[in-house]
Amino acid sequence: MKSKIPILDLKEQTRAIDAEVLAAFQNVILGGMFIKGPEVKQFQEEFSAWVGASHAVGVANGTDALVLALRALDIGPGDEVVTTPFSFIATAECISLVGARPVFADIRPDTFNIDPARVAEKITPRTKAVIGVHLYGNPCDATALRALCDKHKIAFIEDCAQAAGASLGGRRVGSFGDFGCFSFFPSKNLGAFGDAGAVTAQREEHAVKIAVLADHGSRERYHHDHVGTNSRLDTLQAAVLRIKLPRVDGWNERRRAIAARYTKNLSGSGLITPYELPDYRHVYHQYTLRVPRYRDALHAALNSDGVTAVVYYPISLHLQKVYLPLACERGSFPSAETAQDEVLSLPMYPELSDAQVDHISELCIAHYRALQARGAGVAG
Ligand SMILES: Cc1ncc(COP(=O)(O)O)c(C=O)c1O
Repeated sequence: MKSKIPILDLKEQTRAIDAEVLAAFQNVILGGMFIKGPEVKQFQEEFSAWVGASHAVGVANGTDALVLALRALDIGPGDEVVTTPFSFIATAECISLVGARPVFADIRPDTFNIDPARVAEKITPRTKAVIGVHLYGNPCDATALRALCDKHKIAFIEDCAQAAGASLGGRRVGSFGDFGCFSFFPSKNLGAFGDAGAVTAQREEHAVKIAVLADHGSRERYHHDHVGTNSRLDTLQAAVLRIKLPRVDGWNERRRAIAARYTKNLSGSGLITPYELPDYRHVYHQYTLRVPRYRDALHAALNSDGVTAVVYYPISLHLQKVYLPLACERGSFPSAETAQDEVLSLPMYPELSDAQVDHISELCIAHYRALQARGAGVAG
């Protein structure tokens, strides 16, 4: 099989719903309510019911979702927010954007998710919130983080950007935190046709505050009580999300079946496959291997064979240039640093065929064996 396999291909999924989307677009276009159209409210109701949260507010993107959650809690200069060093930059960026200080707590080596025991060590009188990320679609220990935050009377925010539909103990992510922050960037498990996001909330006053802040601090037109911003979910994106939402569980099931096939194929290869805790439903936004010693060489070999593998993320947040002023040296968060050197994500999308999964698995095994035989590692 010589054809190229990308890390993600949205074309087939889009083709399957294009007639429905075009009809919905025509409806919005002819209705003329491009901002605050009825689809936005309908999506918010459907999404909160799906997540199992009391409220959902559509916003412009996942980064704004996080910023708005922190702002709704009045977190700002002088405050600290504890989060993971191993995530997309937006997880820490939102803390800096409100003027607070990100404080990192290391991850569990098996799940790549923040370790509640390490979080507990970082809580000080200045800590106002903890942001837990459900990385790659695998839930972090939201139950333990919720209990820890309750004990210290601080807020718990879930970064659900990569984990729409994931659950633990039968409860979906986004229903544990004071806020659940979702991104509907097109590549996500629930993806719009552009930038989009949502914040789920348990308390009505929290949901109202998010909606007000996202609409120029205004509850009533031309009356502004807060410094807000323009971060509304637009009607066309809400229309797409309404069409996709009922399909996400089915797509996630297919992602799980693909993951199970990769894991079975790769067992005994020496490559470390993703770890699912009992009663956790990982939705495989990414299928991420840990590749001891030969990660970069395997990455290059797969890419040269036409299989796009990607390193999410090559530099932990505490080692990013922007966070050098926090003075976290290499060695501060050993589990995150090992992860950045070893992770490799394989192609993952519901339309990937079993034959493609088998082909990718065979390439991984063949290349990894050859690399081991040659001892051609980068690390010693
Ligand atoms: C973990 C995480 N948080 C936040 C975001 C930000 O979402 P957006 O790109 O919609 O702003 C992303 C997006 O990739 C993400 O992966």
